[in-house]
Formats: sequence, C-alpha cells, structure tokens
Amino acid sequence: MHITMIGAGYVGLVSGACFSDFGHQVVCMDSNAEKVASLNKGEMPIHEPGLAELVARNVGQGRLSFASDLKSAVGEAEVVFIAVGTPSRRGDGHADLSYVYAAAREIAGVLPEQAVVVTKSTVPVGTGDEVERIIREENPDAKVAVVSNPEFLREGAAIRDFKHPDRIVIGTDDARARSVMAEVYRPLHLNASPILYTDRRTAELTKYAANSFLATKIAFINEIADLAEKVGANVQEVARGIGLDNRIGQKFLHAGPGFGGSCFPKDAMALIKTGQDYEAPVRIVETVVAVNDQRKRAMARKVANAFGGNIRGKSIAVLGVTFKPDTDDMRDAPSIPLITALQDMGAEVRVFDPVGMEQAKKVFENVTFCDNAYRCAKGCHALVIVTEWEQFRALDLKELSTIMACPVIVDLRNVYSSEEVERNGFLYCGVGRPKSVAY
Ligand code: NAD
Ligand code: UDX
Repeated sequence: MHITMIGAGYVGLVSGACFSDFGHQVVCMDSNAEKVASLNKGEMPIHEPGLAELVARNVGQGRLSFASDLKSAVGEAEVVFIAVGTPSRRGDGHADLSYVYAAAREIAGVLPEQAVVVTKSTVPVGTGDEVERIIREENPDAKVAVVSNPEFLREGAAIRDFKHPDRIVIGTDDARARSVMAEVYRPLHLNASPILYTDRRTAELTKYAANSFLATKIAFINEIADLAEKVGANVQEVARGIGLDNRIGQKFLHAGPGFGGSCFPKDAMALIKTGQDYEAPVRIVETVVAVNDQRKRAMARKVANAFGGNIRGKSIAVLGVTFKPDTDDMRDAPSIPLITALQDMGAEVRVFDPVGMEQAKKVFENVTFCDNAYRCAKGCHALVIVTEWEQFRALDLKELSTIMACPVIVDLRNVYSSEEVERNGFLYCGVGRPKSVAY
C-alpha cells in the first residue's frame, strides 16, 4: 500500500519505518526541512534503539523516503496518517490541536479522492469529527474517511512495541476505511496481534484511558513506597506480591521519582480537561497528576534528608536526566523539577546522561555537564540516580567511594540493594525500602 505519514517525530518516524518494513511504500513528510534533510543523509533526529538500521534498510530497498513538500509526499497515497505533536496548550492544559488541524487543512487540498486519513496523534474525543469537517470544508468533493488509530508504543522500546503491540485500535464506522486499515495492519494481524474495531470516539477515549490508567498505577505504587518507608516495609516486594495477581499485573509498578515523558503528564491533564468540559470529572486522574507533580520536587527533600535537611553548598551528582533510559527525550523529565529544587536549596549540581546531554544543555542552567559518571561524581557529596540507564547498574562503587567527598547514594530507581552499596561504605537511600531515608 502507499502510505504517507505527516510528521516524522518519535511516532511518525518509527511508525513509518515499521510500515515500510512490512512491505508498504511509505513517505514520511515533515514541515521541518532541517529534519528531513538530516533524515535524507541517514542521520536520525532522535535516539531510538534500532531505528537507524531499520530506516537505512528500508530506504536502501526503496520502500521508505522523506519529504518536506506536502504535495509530492501525499502523491497517490491510499492512507495518510497524521502523527504531529499534541502538546499541552499553554495556560489551560487542554491538548493543543493546532498542529493536527493545520495538517488536516494542508492535506485537504492534495488528497487523492479515495484516501483514508488516520489520526495517529493522541487527540481528545471529537477531534476526528473536526478533522473530517476541515477536510470537507477545504475539499467538498473529497470521499475521504477519517479514522482514529491511536499509537501505544513506548520510547526506548518503540520498534518492538510497534511490531508486537498488545492490540491495535481502529476507530471508524466506515466499512471501506476498516478494510483499508485491515490491509495496512495485515502483517501484524497475521502475527496474532488483536485488532479492536470501534467507533471513532471510543478509539480516541481509549488512548487517554490507557495512559491515565498506567499513570495511576505508577502514582499508586509511589504512594505505597512512601508508606513502606514509614512502616518499614519493602515496596518492591509489595509490588511483586500484588502484581502476581493477574487482575493487577506486574508491569508499571516500579516506584520511582514520579512519571514523566512526552505522554503521561500531558495526556492525563488533557483527559482531566475533557472530563471537566463534559461535567464528568475524572477525579482519580486529577489526584494522580497532583500527587505526581508534588513528588518530583519532593525527591530533592529526600536528597537533603541524607544531610539533616540542609544541602546548601553541597555538590550533588545527578546520573540520568532523560525521562527514561534509551531515549534522549527530556520532555517533562522528573530530573527537571528535581534539579531546580536542589538548586533552590543551595546545592551545586553536576549532571551526566549517556545520550541526553545535548538536550539537557537546552534545559538546564547553572549546572556542570560531565562526560562520564565518575567525572560527574568526583568531589561530590551525594550521587543521585534519576534515570535507570543500564550503565548505572554496574558502577564501580569502590572507585566512587574514593573519589566522592562524601559517600552518599540516593537511588531513585532502586537499581541497587542497600547491602551492596553500604558494604562499600556508602550511606544508601532507595525508594520505599527498609533503611531508606524517608522524606
Ligand atoms: P514529535 O514532536 O516528536 O513529532 C511531531 C513532528 O510533527 C515534528 O517533527 C514536527 O516538525 C512535525 N509537524 C508538525 N506539524 C506538521 C505539519 N503540519 N506537517 C508536517 N509535519 C508537521 O511528536 P511525537 O512524540 O512523535 O508525538 C506525536 C503524537 O503521537 C502526539 O499526539 C503524541 O501524544 C502521540 N504519541 C507519542 C508517543 C511517544 O512516545 N512520543 C507515543 C504514543 C503517541
Ligand atoms: C507511554 C506509554 O507507556 C505508551 O503506551 C504511550 O504510547 C506513550 O506514553 P513512554 O512515555 O514512552 O510511553 O514511556 P513509559 O515506559 O510508559 O514511561 C513513562 C514514565 O513512567 C517514565 O517517566 C517512567 O520512568 C515512568 N515509570 C514507568 C515508572 O516510574 N514506573 C513504572 O513502573 C513504569
């Protein structure tokens, strides 16, 4: 099939590359001409494991190309996906749909007559109706169908998630559009991935409900972690104890510094806004967002408590600043409010991240950027693990104990056991485990 992907960001680029790998003919179109130019040189605009190889293979075999010119990119496409950003709208927290509507308006005039338009961007209920209205307004003769097909991939595991999804959700009442979408996803269906056909509004709501539910799981286990610290229990064992119950499930029960990233915070907020608009408030999600926001800054108090509450003049080494490992994405990363709070308390902050340094430099002021974990820790009073990159799982603790000014490790991802860290002479503070310093 001929597919055009509007937007070559995390979702558009990964989805486009995977579709081409299934054998479809794909053009990824992006209005950012610089991004398209670097993609055409084989340079990836994002860090995503396996993506460069996947793109190179499909470009090499002539199934994948990049363009910044809309008309040529849409060409004779049978399916046009919209995968542009839907960030939080400044000021009110609603999803900012200006990029989606602009894309709809732009494609309307160049769409082939029978094209199926698919919103892959995460969009509030009713957006598909508006996309359809815009296209019809611009192009009254178009026999276009607008489908909602939300994407559930995670950054850092995006290709695997795309190729082996737990499910595919396709929202449309249009029979022709359904059969076109079945053809698009046929290779995955053959792979036994379930396809759920719904109406468009149900598909739109499903995406927000999924993200908000996962965010709720994390916020819940984080509060249990706080309680575990007070009562002398181990949150990791509690998580296992509840997660082995199939009704609860083991995933997304890792306590930490609070959820971040380009999706959970903004999508939970957008769902709250939709709930308020329709006078059906999602109060649980409202609480989840509030609890999570407080938590990120509260992590700085956890660091301070290792020093009796005062870190003025102390040097703190922060390992990992991206919102999760295996990505360079800094959007809504927990490290941002944490580092600001450490600085507000008078600490000097040093930072190292395996791939996020370039992005981090655009975000942080007055921090010292270091080029490895040991140079970051040298002379510091505390080492704080904020993102669980693999390379932080096997730090040379002996070496660290000799180069740091004060042997304190605050492990916000529970990467280490207190025994192994304390054996090397450190004061250790994890999250929700015995001997942690409670904040
Ligand atoms: P992104 O910011 O990485 O990429 C968006 C791209 O769209 C940018 O490259 C931008 O230049 C381009 N763009 C904007 N307007 C355009 C236009 N009119 N024409 C052509 N290109 C245009 O965003 P993302 O992280 O890929 O997210 C895209 C959507 O997918 C969002 O709605 C997001 O919520 C959703 N989503 C994201 C993830 C994720 O892990 N990042 C996962 C699932 C769903
Ligand atoms: C999320 C959804 O998982 C994905 O389905 C959706 O398409 C996009 O949003 P992503 O944000 O890429 O994916 O990463 P995810 O692995 O979900 O992590 C999000 C945040 O939650 C990170 O800050 C992570 O550290 C945190 N998290 C996750 C926890 O704190 N504990 C957990 O158990 C899991």
